Amino acid sequence: MEIKVIVGDIAQIEADAIVVNLFEGVEQPGGATAAVDKALSGAISSLIGRGEIKGKFGEVSIIHTLGKLPARIVTIAGLGKRQDFNVDKIRGVAGEFCRALRKLNCRKIATILHGASIGDIELEASTEAIAEGALLGLYNFTKYKKPEYEDIEEMLIVVREREKVPILESAIGKGKTVALATNLARDMVNEPANYMTPSQMAEIAKEIASKYNLEFKVFGREDMEAMGMGALLGVAKGSNQPPKLITLSYKGDKHSEKTLGFLGKGITFDSGGISIKASEGMDEMKDDMAGAAAVMTAVGAIAQLKPKINVTAVIPATENLPSGTALKPGDVLKAMNGKTIEVISTDAEGRLILADALSYAVKQGLSPLIDLATLTGACRVALGTLYSGLFGNDQDLVNKVLEATERTGERMWQMPMPEEYKEQNKSEIANVKNTGNRHGGAITAALFLAEFVANIPWVHIDIAGTAFSAKESGYIVKGATGVGVRTLVELALSEAKSQEAI
Ligand code: BES
Ligand code: MN
Ligand code: ZN
Repeated sequence: MEIKVIVGDIAQIEADAIVVNLFEGVEQPGGATAAVDKALSGAISSLIGRGEIKGKFGEVSIIHTLGKLPARIVTIAGLGKRQDFNVDKIRGVAGEFCRALRKLNCRKIATILHGASIGDIELEASTEAIAEGALLGLYNFTKYKKPEYEDIEEMLIVVREREKVPILESAIGKGKTVALATNLARDMVNEPANYMTPSQMAEIAKEIASKYNLEFKVFGREDMEAMGMGALLGVAKGSNQPPKLITLSYKGDKHSEKTLGFLGKGITFDSGGISIKASEGMDEMKDDMAGAAAVMTAVGAIAQLKPKINVTAVIPATENLPSGTALKPGDVLKAMNGKTIEVISTDAEGRLILADALSYAVKQGLSPLIDLATLTGACRVALGTLYSGLFGNDQDLVNKVLEATERTGERMWQMPMPEEYKEQNKSEIANVKNTGNRHGGAITAALFLAEFVANIPWVHIDIAGTAFSAKESGYIVKGATGVGVRTLVELALSEAKSQEAI
């Protein structure tokens, strides 16, 4: 879908549909909604009066103009309660009205800027959110099945003042870049594991690298052996697919030694291995590379937005399968940093491959480190599907990530990392073991990872609950969510800005 800015009066736009809005509880609409209401001889206010249009968040009301206006349809998008309104609501509203209008066979739609004059929401933020929400909300995975509805081809954002056009255009550009990167991550996660193998992940990383001029490296089994990556190799033992360690580097600040490290868990299918999972719902375990997909596409988006900063993504990728050569419970592995790990459950494989990826990142001098991983079912139990779990060894870095999430709407909740729980990861025969007991499973997993980050500032984001959605709502659709991409991009942009200020 193309997104353009035009100067004019929304009521006079020729399109399949025009979109205005309404806050919940407002009886007499103002602004553009009032102008359209007038052109429709009061149809909107009369529907509000009858209680048909309420302005509830996510509500999309349709009025057919029957020739009264150049547009075929007038859409009233509910913004919800005024006091609850924020930038993320704008994304959600855009996602909802776009999907509704696609169902009504609209090819060209026009919208006002929602919320740009409300509270402290800036023009850019509102524009970016509409572009982002629309592209995210319209996403569908179409590789193996034709979509039910045809695409909306064009969305016009209508403003009255010509001088605002350049600001809006650049905001659309940013929103589009970030949304398309998120949608690419969604594609990768929605792809079944018979296609999205570690080798295929490396192929995609290579394509991103050549498209945006990034440095790309891929290491295979022999390289891993040479580097001492016994934990990653251990997980890979059960599979016929060769494991890959992939890196993608963006160098936006050639004069700085400092490079931010983004790590993503890349289990292209998690059967559990010998500690095999129950078969019900196992198909969802194709999403176990959502962290990897997010860090890869985030670096691609960063390369397009060109902040003055260096970023390297590190992705350990392998399948986790049972076989005659597979890793077994009780086996002891040695990670790249020299620590020995007793494998209690082969299903706690994410922390094993991340142990080597983190050791590698530390050795490469990357700092700070942010890892994204569909790591524990326990995190989903603790926080549900709206919040990712956030852990860290450096409160400044934790705060920076949390601040970035406030702008992106990707909700995260900081979890504790008490020393006392380290007890659970103690092994009789090795430096650590890879599972604790049933209690605090997301936390003991984070404490395990902490063993491999040395003293580098680090944040771990457990996206087991948030990577995949069972329902559609706002700009989230069924299937992969692409969680993390937007926050990582935002973090890189804000880090670059704060460096500049020094
Ligand atoms: N990939 C899973 C975690 C997961 C569960 C992601 C549900 C998405 C939805 C991970 O590798 C795993 O299997 N974790 C185990 C750890 C346990 C064996 C300590 C789990 O959560 O059960
Ligand atoms: Mn597992
Ligand atoms: Zn897993």
